[in-house]
Amino acid sequence: MPLKLTVNNVAATVDVSPDMPLLWVLRDVLNLKGSKYGCGIGVCGACTVLVGGHAVRSCMTKIGAVGSQPVTTIEGLSPDGLHPVQVAWEALDVPQCGYCQSGQIMTAAALVAKTTNPSDSDIDEAMRGNLCRCGTYQRIRQAIKLAAGVKA
Ligand code: FES
Ligand code: FES
Repeated sequence: MPLKLTVNNVAATVDVSPDMPLLWVLRDVLNLKGSKYGCGIGVCGACTVLVGGHAVRSCMTKIGAVGSQPVTTIEGLSPDGLHPVQVAWEALDVPQCGYCQSGQIMTAAALVAKTTNPSDSDIDEAMRGNLCRCGTYQRIRQAIKLAAGVKA
């Protein structure tokens, strides 16, 4: 049965099983490849997107559970790549290989949207599920503070 959803402010109808992971729908049906497949079991964060403004693991989220909640991927975070988190990421040259980075940015965007002055522990708590094999953690923390207007 076709399912209706809204991704990056665009309405879409997908004819898939309600059990299909959101990540599969995004990448393979809607051709939004920015969200990455890492572990597929909810432990790396590479697939993180926003559902209803909350950072979720799209590999572990069934499309049938999304309902009317808006989905935002890295492609839709801002119309021009100028979301404060994206600007901070670029200013501090955060990525190395880049594979984990869309998930990092989406988790960081959810954090700065709800926490005005994130402390180190706020950042560690929010970001601890997002793994980076290149070890960019220090720059991620600095970039989140920059995006949130907190002195590093
Ligand atoms: S691919 Fe979803 S958490 Fe790793
Ligand atoms: S930048 Fe390479 S895995 Fe994070």
